[in-house]
Amino acid sequence: MNAPYAEGLVQEDANDLALPDHVRVRPLSAYTGAEIHGLDLSRPLSPDEVQAVQSVLLQWKVVFFRDQPLSHDQHIAFSRQFGELTVGHPVFGHVDNYPELYAISKYRKSNSHDSRPEFKPWLGWHTDVTAAINPPAASILRGVVVPPHGGDTQWSNLAAAFRGLSDPLKDFLRGLRGRHEFSAPAGAKESPEYRAAVSQRQLVSEHPLVRRHPQTGEEVLFVSPGFLKSIVGLHARESRLLLEMLWEHIIRPEFTVRFKWEPGSIAFWDNQGTAHAPPFDIFDLSYDRQLFRTTLVGTVPVGVDGRPSSAISGDPMLAHHSAAY
Ligand SMILES: [Fe+2]
Repeated sequence: MNAPYAEGLVQEDANDLALPDHVRVRPLSAYTGAEIHGLDLSRPLSPDEVQAVQSVLLQWKVVFFRDQPLSHDQHIAFSRQFGELTVGHPVFGHVDNYPELYAISKYRKSNSHDSRPEFKPWLGWHTDVTAAINPPAASILRGVVVPPHGGDTQWSNLAAAFRGLSDPLKDFLRGLRGRHEFSAPAGAKESPEYRAAVSQRQLVSEHPLVRRHPQTGEEVLFVSPGFLKSIVGLHARESRLLLEMLWEHIIRPEFTVRFKWEPGSIAFWDNQGTAHAPPFDIFDLSYDRQLFRTTLVGTVPVGVDGRPSSAISGDPMLAHHSAAY
């Protein structure tokens, strides 16, 4: 029987990683997502534990923790063990008194559920803030108010997705670059607040379509559907059709994982090698939903040809240094 994709696509077993005995890893799909058990995130981790989380994260691209009812301060302290933090959000700001924390509420300034009549399969999928020259390296999202059903988040492994393409297409994509912009999804009815926030801080960057992962060296299909507007140098129709094909590809179920939140759940994803999709079903349910996010400062992506991304508009996302830091 022929394998559906190139040989060697399947992830290695989680047990291949050398981890402390008390840290247990449970992969949730073939390539993407693993639960980590045995850690208490409310307290400082040992260097071995930090290293363990980092290595599982790099292999599985998103890791999940259960039953970690952290305070805002504990969430920020946990995140800082893995790198410097950005301000909550470069366009939409932060939680009062917590500059590093971004609130993800059911009803945000973007009325994204109104865009469903324009529904495309990849609607909502994105990699965080790829309109910036240095998109975050990682995001750490904490569930506080979680609906009893509905509201799942999905992630896709963009290194596995790239490996799943044919060799001629891989070669073609390696030489291309894309223009990423922060703007409302096509067809969305933006609120005046959303439009004002976006227009006050224009973020536009050109990134390679295939970036080299800075830690693993993998080739990553860097095609954030929410921000990538066009492929440089192609005719508009060529660009649109190629992007739609790639977006359809990266959200194929075998590259993705779907996570059911509980209060105290934490999702920590490698934003250099994933895209993710927020849920739309929560707008059909009366339940509230409230999560909080921190983001780690990222580096400027570099293409497999060695060319770094270039900024067209907007500032890099730098570390936020609070007085206590
Ligand atoms: Fe996001």
